[in-house]
Amino acid sequence: MPNLPDVEPGHVEHAADTLRGGGLVAFPTETVYGLGADAENVAAVERVFAVKGRPPTHPLIVHLSGAHQLSDWAVEVPDAAHRVAERFWPGPLTVVLRAGPRVPRAVTGGLDTVALRVPDHPVSLALLAAFGGGVAAPSANRFGAVSPTTADHVRDGLGAEVDYVLDGGSCAVGVESTIVDLTGEPAILRPGGVTRDDLEHALGHSVPVRVESAVRVPGQHPSHYAPRARVVLVEPGHVLGHAEFLHAHGCRVGVLVPPGFAGGSGGCAGQRVIAVPESGARYARRLYEFLRDFDRHGCEVVVASVPAPDGLGLAIADRLRRAAGSRSRAGHGSELFNSP
Ligand code: TXA
Ligand code: MG
Repeated sequence: MPNLPDVEPGHVEHAADTLRGGGLVAFPTETVYGLGADAENVAAVERVFAVKGRPPTHPLIVHLSGAHQLSDWAVEVPDAAHRVAERFWPGPLTVVLRAGPRVPRAVTGGLDTVALRVPDHPVSLALLAAFGGGVAAPSANRFGAVSPTTADHVRDGLGAEVDYVLDGGSCAVGVESTIVDLTGEPAILRPGGVTRDDLEHALGHSVPVRVESAVRVPGQHPSHYAPRARVVLVEPGHVLGHAEFLHAHGCRVGVLVPPGFAGGSGGCAGQRVIAVPESGARYARRLYEFLRDFDRHGCEVVVASVPAPDGLGLAIADRLRRAAGSRSRAGHGSELFNSP
């Protein structure tokens, strides 16, 4: 259950009016904050791309108030979509379906498919119900930067360019939704808040992760979800040693210490050490906050390791790899940098 937000009803109405007037509203979801526009207002959608600095070929997710709206936005709604909507909505799952005529091309970047999701946060659900239509929303950060998990992160990143910010506290899941393509054989395009296991269980068969072939999903871009600091990924047993090596060479280092490799949190001068929570859910909830913390403390390099790809570990591993981007080319064990 997300944090109970302290938002008065009038604020939600004002936000819905802002959307109706073609304005941009940042709003909380259970995953990260979104930068919302009326999905059917092309000028408003174009402004979302401009404010984010995002190329128009990266399509937006349309947020709905319930699964009953699926057929308003998609032309074919396969059984699999009904099944996962029933099981996971509201929740951190986005389905990609064939787009209906109502979806402007500005939203899909010219694709004939559309990404749809019903977020699980009382404030976003209230906003979507009050607005009535679809809300096109990417994460409320500049393109390539770390996603916001509090209203302050949104204000810090986008400031006056957003017409209204709904504050619903900090996001409970902390990483973005899982994106599943249901236009053919189901495939995961982005691991996220719904685990692969849970998705496979709901669909009754295995679901491949097809991150690399998904043309429009972030990751083609060399560094995504990235802090200012360079992120270097090493084997878990080498994190502390590698950090020490960089520190000894005069780098300000941020360290994400994997569970079981104690060292405590805090750090000495020039080093900022955060012990990663053992639970994947808790780690996911705080991952972006940790990356922001390193930036705030002026770290030049962040040393981390990729968690095992089970549960939320798959999404965390994905975000860390994207944060490292082409800069470390860390993917699998064999490609990892080794500690000196
Ligand atoms: O948790 C989330 O999904 C958050 C919250 C705000 O809902 N939203 C989010 O949006 O992460 P964004 O725009 O940062 O990432 C959504 C990704 C885009 O990078 C895009 O590549 C992919 O969804 N996407 C959107 N439409 C698609 C489509 N038709 N086919 C394939 N991928 C699509
Ligand atoms: Mg994003």
